[in-house]
Amino acid sequence: MQAVSDIMSLRTATKDLRNTGASLALVPTMGALHDGHLALVEQAKRRADHVAVSIFVNPTQFGEGEDLDAYPRQLARDKALLEEAGAALLWVPDVQTMYPAGFQTVISTPQAAQGLCGAKRPGHFDGVATVVCKLLNQVDPDIALFGEKDYQQLAVIKSMVRDLDMDVTIEGVPTIREADGLAMSSRNAYLSVEQRQSAVTLPNAMKVAIAEIQTGGKVDQALATLQHALEQAGFHQCDYAELRVANSLAVPDFDMLKGGTELRLLVAAHIGKTRLIDNMPLLWPTI
Ligand code: PAF
Repeated sequence: MQAVSDIMSLRTATKDLRNTGASLALVPTMGALHDGHLALVEQAKRRADHVAVSIFVNPTQFGEGEDLDAYPRQLARDKALLEEAGAALLWVPDVQTMYPAGFQTVISTPQAAQGLCGAKRPGHFDGVATVVCKLLNQVDPDIALFGEKDYQQLAVIKSMVRDLDMDVTIEGVPTIREADGLAMSSRNAYLSVEQRQSAVTLPNAMKVAIAEIQTGGKVDQALATLQHALEQAGFHQCDYAELRVANSLAVPDFDMLKGGTELRLLVAAHIGKTRLIDNMPLLWPTI
């Protein structure tokens, strides 16, 4: 695996990889890789001849008081994991390369970024859309893969690619979970042993809410029970627990919803200093 950190070397490397008409996939990451990222690389290998991975802890998607400085950085370990996973290219730009003096362009997808994490993290999705646009322009892949764990992020990126006629396929890959069901995340590393034990309440309570709704239970009641379970487990703040239409993230009108409509339950909640997010699919019941 070749690792490059300047644009000229990146262009040469991608040109070489594409030399014989081979296809290229990109897996954008912020590093601190876990099995969720490696599942993206595996899927990327099925989709393209070569896989490029980017590692860049993007400052513009962190708000004030968020964990930019604390975000885990472990490049040597990440490199070894990617080498073993069979990535062909690692793109590791520094902040100056990504945002040189005078940088001013911002990409905004106000509809996709409305509500959910967008409401709690102002500017976050502008930072994500802008950096992903840059990464796609820099690497110029045929396909780019993102985890469904960041479901709203995926919606933002799909909107941007559609609106800007970008010639790349965006593919979402289902969330990879720990053995007990907690969604894998680089931020799980912040959890104490006790918090880690309590954190599993998040996916468990979501499954209970989904079962309740799918068997005709009231949505408000199921979501209130979910939030109560989180409180009981030591989550001190729930940013949101909402049902949305899966493909558009629109707020559903439950009175008008057809049975079989694909929905998504999305939750963000804080335990200690860590903010965890998760989402799961469900079908609106036919009653
Ligand atoms: O999901 C992430 O790790 C980041 O938000 C991304 C897509 C790499 C952009 O910085």
